[in-house]
Amino acid sequence: MNSDETIIAVQNASRSFKLAGETVSVLKSVDLNIRQGEFVTLIGRSGSGKTTLLNLLSGLDSPSSGKVLFEDQNMAEMNEGRLTELRRSKLGFVFQSFGLLPLLSAFENVELPLRISGVGTGERERLTRRALDIVGLEGRSSHRPYELSGGEQQRVAIARAIVHDPILILADEPTGELDSVNSKAIFGLFKQMVKEKNMSVVAATHDSNLLEMSDRVMRLSEGNIEEDATYGQRFRE
Ligand SMILES: Nc1ncnc2c1ncn2[C@@H]1O[C@H](COP(=O)(O)OP(=O)(O)OP(=O)(O)O)[C@@H](O)[C@H]1O
Ligand SMILES: [Mg+2]
Repeated sequence: MNSDETIIAVQNASRSFKLAGETVSVLKSVDLNIRQGEFVTLIGRSGSGKTTLLNLLSGLDSPSSGKVLFEDQNMAEMNEGRLTELRRSKLGFVFQSFGLLPLLSAFENVELPLRISGVGTGERERLTRRALDIVGLEGRSSHRPYELSGGEQQRVAIARAIVHDPILILADEPTGELDSVNSKAIFGLFKQMVKEKNMSVVAATHDSNLLEMSDRVMRLSEGNIEEDATYGQRFRE
């Protein structure tokens, strides 16, 4: 159920950093359109700018030149309050190191963003159970992170990222600490959410075995981005 609606668009964006008086151009001229219901993987060697680009998409960072438009609105022109609101309501984040709070149970970890957003008790409980159910961990909700395997912890992190029904999930090497079976399961969950909920996913990965699970593979190289034709062709075969 793909639609042509663009969720987020990067237009001729650059990002450079000044280090010890020297300017390093990480992104030079990046154009990227993410549509609703699309699963895009981001590849490129270490240091090619994947995390830098994801930070631009999440509004945590702004381009040195060019624009990032979220639902046609320039993120650089949003005030901090609007950006925070957008992150809480429309975006979900998944990181390589899971980022769960160790003293909270799986349930409490998933529930936390709803508490922060001031969602009432009953609704919090309903949404948290639903998210844990989607990732197949309804039976582990009282367990703390250290009682769960790496793959299970990452599924909790995904439940937390989707608990508020975001429209876009940004994932930075979400399977970096997982074995191949768990990695496939995590990408399978992304695929399921794209298909069933029409969410969009942008996931950076080093694992070429996972790419064919996505709709589109974008490669960062020398500060530019382009669709990787090799994979595109393979998917269409
Ligand atoms: N805040 C910063 N200040 C200075 N340089 C930075 C900053 N953030 C990123 N860089 C530089 O930008 C380049 C790209 O980094 P980035 O983390 O985006 O790469 P990556 O593709 O995510 O790499 P990896 O696969 O290792 O995670 C690196 O050379 C890095 O040193
Ligand atoms: Mg990175």
